Amino acid sequence: MTATRLIFLGAPGAGKGTQAQKLAQLCNIPHISTGEILRNEVAKNTHLGRETKSYQDKGELVPDRLILDMVSQRLSESDAQSGWILDGFPRNVTQAEFLDELLNKLQQKCDRVINLEVPDQIIVDRLLKRGRKDDTEEVILRRLEVYREQTAPLIHYYNERHLLVSIQGNQSMEEVTAELQKAVDLSC
Ligand code: AP5
Repeated sequence: MTATRLIFLGAPGAGKGTQAQKLAQLCNIPHISTGEILRNEVAKNTHLGRETKSYQDKGELVPDRLILDMVSQRLSESDAQSGWILDGFPRNVTQAEFLDELLNKLQQKCDRVINLEVPDQIIVDRLLKRGRKDDTEEVILRRLEVYREQTAPLIHYYNERHLLVSIQGNQSMEEVTAELQKAVDLSC
């Protein structure tokens, strides 16, 4: 059996975490969310958590120097050797290039990059309802801006590499999951 290795791209609130978690459970592979790892570090008040908190609170990207080592370590762990789903990483071209090199070193390949598309207004409504600490209207709008400036260029990056699959995320969660399963040839 070959491994399943997927990246979830998409604006804040597009449903990356929701869908990544479902597929990861289905395939019994780790769901690696950099946002969640960072929030845990903040909750534990670690050195990394203290460094990242202000960026997360403002909706800014945490500096690459703090993210790259963290991802490198996580992907080297034993449970990540037979597949993974990355959610929220990479977030800019520097991170994408770093990941390419890292996967090369680990002799792994990403199978697909899932781009979940959802209109901004739906995103704002969803996130205001959820109410995480960074789900205030001001911070949501900043996160959307950061997404457009720094993360959206990855759509082109992965399209050029023939890895991109775009899916309408503005459907029921079950419909999105069904479309995803059809679009991605899961090897689990
Ligand atoms: P991160 O945790 O990655 O947050 P995000 O990208 O803003 O995404 P969200 O978790 O808000 O949304 P999602 O797309 O996962 O949607 P979800 O499934 O939760 O990052 C947070 C911060 O950490 C960043 O701002 C940055 O500071 C830092 N960070 C993280 N990674 C970084 C990196 N690589 N580099 C630098 N900094 C980094 O769904 C959202 C809501 O919608 C939920 O309530 C859900 O129930 C609902 N929902 C989902 N799908 C549907 C549906 N189909 N219909 C109706 N409701 C739905």
